[in-house]
Amino acid sequence: MATKSIVILISGSGTNLQAIIDAVKQGRIKAKIAAVISNRADAKGLERARRADINAVVIEQNTYHNRVDYDTALISEIDKYHPDLIVLAGFMRILSDKFVHHYQHKVLNIHPSLLPEFKGLHTHRRVLESCQSIHGASVHFLSNELDSGPVVLQAEVPVMPNDTEATLAARVLQQEHIIYPMAIAWFIDGRLEVKGNHILLDKLTLHRPARWKSDRLILSNAP
Ligand code: GAR
Repeated sequence: MATKSIVILISGSGTNLQAIIDAVKQGRIKAKIAAVISNRADAKGLERARRADINAVVIEQNTYHNRVDYDTALISEIDKYHPDLIVLAGFMRILSDKFVHHYQHKVLNIHPSLLPEFKGLHTHRRVLESCQSIHGASVHFLSNELDSGPVVLQAEVPVMPNDTEATLAARVLQQEHIIYPMAIAWFIDGRLEVKGNHILLDKLTLHRPARWKSDRLILSNAP
């Protein structure tokens, strides 16, 4: 069987990218990472890609006049690799409808909150300000509304009384590094399907996203 391939988009430090590179090396994700593309030349994740002998490409956002022009360039770069899956790993740009439609049901994103709560930026700060007791991260399919596509898998963490934005972000990030490779492996192994706004895992509709909590996976297909 031909090896499946993944293209990963980043903007920053790329710790999720590193977790995915490690999962591929260890055979937990049975795919090749064909390219890593960044919208910023100074993204530290580019170095992680180069160290792993992965094509590292920069498509600098400042050189394009508008979102559609940028996304057109991005699409033509991505399509060179014919990927089975596109993974947004800290890619801090809103993608156009054109991009979303071109790759429907083929793009995963990770967001640092328990969606649908806390869409958008500064999630850790907003969680602390609103005195939540739990927080987490979500892996979801891309849709044309920000942070709103069907959610596959979430990790839950407690918010501690003495947490700062930095300590909470670190606790969430550690869980992201577990759930993102896990959800990507499900996709690559053909175990995930999207039907409307629902996710099917192994042909069973998940009425709630799968949840990773205290190192255990909880699946709920009860309506
Ligand atoms: C991660 O926390 C990811 O969830 C978040 O950016 C960080 C990237 O870290 N993504 C978003 O906020 C997207 N809305 P990394 O570069 O170390 O993987």
